[in-house]
Amino acid sequence: MFIYTLVLLLVIAALRQNVSCEANIQSQSFKIINGNEAAPHSLPYQAAILGMDGKFLCGGSLISPRSILTAAHCLDRAGTSVQVVLGAHNISNPGEEGQLKITSTQFVIHKDWNAKKALNDIALVILPKPIETTNTIKWFIMD
Ligand SMILES: *[C@@H]1O[C@H](CO)[C@@H](O)[C@H](O)[C@H]1NC(C)=O
Repeated sequence: MFIYTLVLLLVIAALRQNVSCEANIQSQSFKIINGNEAAPHSLPYQAAILGMDGKFLCGGSLISPRSILTAAHCLDRAGTSVQVVLGAHNISNPGEEGQLKITSTQFVIHKDWNAKKALNDIALVILPKPIETTNTIKWFIMD
């Protein structure tokens, strides 16, 4: 019974996350669902992915000097290019110190990405040239 309850709770938690994610996709706003403000620059691999119109599409993680890991669905509406913002605490403030904005036209989307079934929802945004680490920008290193 305990195991059953645990599994049920996990399923409910997973479903709720999906719902939040959907709501976030549809509103296309800067709103964070169930989030807390991070300490400034405590997550230096965090990227924001914006459309060329400046609209927020998704977050991502800088995992190497040239690649941002994100979800494939984020790029479905992107067209042929996106803007990647690195080193930001407040992406609404483009004048913020330490921010870098780079345009990318190169995406690697999982070959079996299936939007209908939301399978293999993973992609890379490739930057035109390697970025240097700074106080506010570092790639994610898995030890
Ligand atoms: C982010 O920057 C914008 C533009 O400067 C400002 O209006 C807003 O209050 C800032 N938000 C936070 C949470 O600091």
